[in-house]
Amino acid sequence: MDKETEKVNAAKASLENIKDGMVIGIGSGSTVAKLIKLLGNKAKEEELEILTVPTSFQVRQLLVEAKIPITTLDEHPFLDIAIDGADEVDRNLNLIKGGGAALTQEKIIDSCTKNLIIIVDSGKLVNNLGEKFAVPLEIIPQALPLVNDRLKIFSDNFELRMAKKKLGPIITDNGNFIIDMRIPDLSNRNLKELEKELNVIPGVIENGLFIDMTKIVYVGTQDGAKKITI
Ligand code: A5P
Repeated sequence: MDKETEKVNAAKASLENIKDGMVIGIGSGSTVAKLIKLLGNKAKEEELEILTVPTSFQVRQLLVEAKIPITTLDEHPFLDIAIDGADEVDRNLNLIKGGGAALTQEKIIDSCTKNLIIIVDSGKLVNNLGEKFAVPLEIIPQALPLVNDRLKIFSDNFELRMAKKKLGPIITDNGNFIIDMRIPDLSNRNLKELEKELNVIPGVIENGLFIDMTKIVYVGTQDGAKKITI
C-alpha cells in the first residue's frame, strides 16, 4: 500500500465538489497539503474565483504559496464546503481528528458548513473509533492538574503530548496543550454524549471526536478513490 498515492488520489477525487465562486474551509494535515497543490492548479487552469478559510498556520502558509486567496469567518461565516483529513473514520463516518493538533480550529471551521468532505488514505478506516488512535483534547495549560484529575473517570490511559523539536509539551496554534487519551470500549459508548461530556470539563477547549459531522468520505486507492456516503 502506497499511502502517498492514496492521499493524492483522495484529494484529487474531492475536487469534483469545487465550483466557481465557492468559499471553502480548508482542514489541516498531509492529505490536505496535497489537496492545496491540486486546488491551486485547478483554480489557475479553470480561472476559478474561490476563497478559502484555513484551519491552521500550516495550511495558511500552503494556501499563500499556492496563491489561493484567503478569507476569514468574520467575512464569510457560512462556508459552501469544507474539505479536511482525519486520523480515523468509522463505519458511520464518525471521525477522530487532531493528530496535527489543529482540532479546535478544524471543528470550528468544519461546523460552518453543511458540506464537510473528508479525504483519507485507506489506513484511516476502522470498525470502531479508538482502535488505532487516541482521542486528543486541547486544554488551557493552567487547567492541566484539574483536567488530569477529571479525565480519570473516562480512562487511566492519557498523556500530555510532548514536542519533538522543543523542550516540553507541544503548544497549539491557539497557545494551548494537547492531551491524548485512549478510552476503552469506545464502541459501546454514545459518541455524541462523550464528545459533549469531555468538553464540559473546565479547561477543555475542544476534543477530537467529530461525530455526525460528515456524510461524504473519499478514500484513496492506488488508482483512484472510493466515495463513501451515508
Ligand atoms: C490535524 O489536527 C488533523 O485533524 C488532521 O486532519 C489529521 O491528523 C489527518 O492528517 P493526515 O492527512 O496528515 O493524515
